Amino acid sequence: MDYQVIRKPKPDESRVKPRLPDPGDPHDAAIWETVQKELDWLPGGFLNKAYECIDRHALGPNQGKKALVWEGKNGEVETYTFAELKRESDKFANVLNGLGVEKGDRVFMLMERVPELYVAFFGGLKVGAVVGPLFSAFGPEPVKDRLLDSGAKILVTQPGLRRRIAEVIPDLQQLRHVIVANTASRDPSPLAEGDLSYEALMSEASSEWEIVETTMYDHSVMHYTSGTTGKPKGAVHCHHAIVQQYATGKWVLDLHEDDIYWCTADPGWVTGTSYGILAPWSNGVTQVIYEGGFRASAWYEVIEKHGVTVWYTAPTAIRMLMKAGTDVPKRHDLSSLRHILSVGEPLNPEAIMWGLPVFQQAIHDNWWQTETGAILIANYPAMDVRPGSMGKPIPGVEAAILDDDYVRLPVGTEGHLAIRPGWPSMFRTYWRDSERYNSRFRKGWYITGDRARVDQDGYYWFVGREDDVINTAGHLVGPFEVESVLIGHPAVAEAGVIGKPDPIAMEVVKAFVALKDGFEPSQKLRSEIMGFARERMAAGIAPREIEFLPSLPKTRSGKIMRRLLKARELGLPEGDTSTLEED
Ligand code: PRX
Repeated sequence: MDYQVIRKPKPDESRVKPRLPDPGDPHDAAIWETVQKELDWLPGGFLNKAYECIDRHALGPNQGKKALVWEGKNGEVETYTFAELKRESDKFANVLNGLGVEKGDRVFMLMERVPELYVAFFGGLKVGAVVGPLFSAFGPEPVKDRLLDSGAKILVTQPGLRRRIAEVIPDLQQLRHVIVANTASRDPSPLAEGDLSYEALMSEASSEWEIVETTMYDHSVMHYTSGTTGKPKGAVHCHHAIVQQYATGKWVLDLHEDDIYWCTADPGWVTGTSYGILAPWSNGVTQVIYEGGFRASAWYEVIEKHGVTVWYTAPTAIRMLMKAGTDVPKRHDLSSLRHILSVGEPLNPEAIMWGLPVFQQAIHDNWWQTETGAILIANYPAMDVRPGSMGKPIPGVEAAILDDDYVRLPVGTEGHLAIRPGWPSMFRTYWRDSERYNSRFRKGWYITGDRARVDQDGYYWFVGREDDVINTAGHLVGPFEVESVLIGHPAVAEAGVIGKPDPIAMEVVKAFVALKDGFEPSQKLRSEIMGFARERMAAGIAPREIEFLPSLPKTRSGKIMRRLLKARELGLPEGDTSTLEED
């Protein structure tokens, strides 16, 4: 195979930490033992992500170092040192303790990227709770599904978001308290009856707190992720994941003491947690958190204004920057950028080639999943980049391409992308669904659900997903979740949802809808159904397109054949339709 290669100069030895492993090292599991020793374990062999990310820096020479440089939607800037984040999160741990939160309880957050989100996250970990940040754009349905399934005891949120989901709160039997932040400074509207004010609780809380004894195997963070069937599943991670989040922060993000790091992902998705909270702060690095959404000039401005050196973003964002043109970046000084990475969807070679003159460097693709907790396959900073490849497995991780019997395939052949279990940040269960968890492991491998191939030099190339899950702008959307909302509309009899290819977002959600008797297809009804879904879900995951059909293709057992809907949409062969029941 012929590849285009972007060659790298020999790395500057002065910047390479002595502990950096050799990327050519074979899969050496002993590497994790070495890395583990770099963390500051708690007395008695306990491990807590909050201690590794915040307290150990706040208790050492870095206590006065800026941990968080926050830029709000309106351009306001606040900074927090590691010592300040320690004090705030200790106080929030006391708040939670006072409300009866115990080790293992679930504490969820539905918040914009505001400082209080990060304080609540670490405060939760410090009481030994399992924390679950939710995507702030979610409407009532996805929030209800996730809070019900997790049995969350506490929800920390903000006034506007609280109002958006008000209708589902009474259905959440296990939810004991809703804590609302920012009531005083940003939205002074009165609290709903029974809600607690974050500011009032914090003003009375003590800042003396001793972290609850959590072991490396205690649950710490959960993220809901979508599958082909059923509602999203809660992938649960342990405190041990911090070992790999820290290591990949060093090896893949190339974080150094003096870096200013910016991850554009929201903590409601796993990238925004593993790499927007845990990896940078376990490495003691200053990170910029930008509350605003996407706008090309605003993003370049963030880089210039804060002197961002390491930038972790997503292919859709890069394609949106491409669309905005090369004149916009020319108006900004982007020379602080030293290393750029992207994840979540395939990074097309054109995007890397576009980025070369704009950023004066290659964008580095890497691959992982909610379930893997941290990066597993990456283009390292020192590696030659092959545009279109996800890179090579990180040290300590063994990847393979398997056939349908889960036997290793030769180089160059497409098959199931699989990983040998046992990496530190591996998910430990799907919340209350161990059957589905076990189904992900076959013949000693974790089956990722992606198809890929590997070349003769060990570079992995993504081919596609094996299931019906839609990847829109790097966000996974389960078709069932969207279909369930659509059939809640009074006019909808049946709904089938697919991912339709899109030049910017990779895929957009498209729904096929059959109407109930008495309803006629019309543009007005289409807009109404789209609005109905957007209000309940989130603009990004609700259908962008709706097509009316008299009825949907189903199997004889009544299952909607999404595969067929997709093949018809794309004008592809329909494949095996022997189980099709057309009416
Ligand atoms: O299909 C792969 C795609 O995103 C999936 C994981 O999504 P999620 O669990 O939301 O985790 C996001 C954090 C990375 C994968 O199974 N994916 C992820 N990275 C890449 C990718 N597809 C192609 N290239 C990538 N670099």
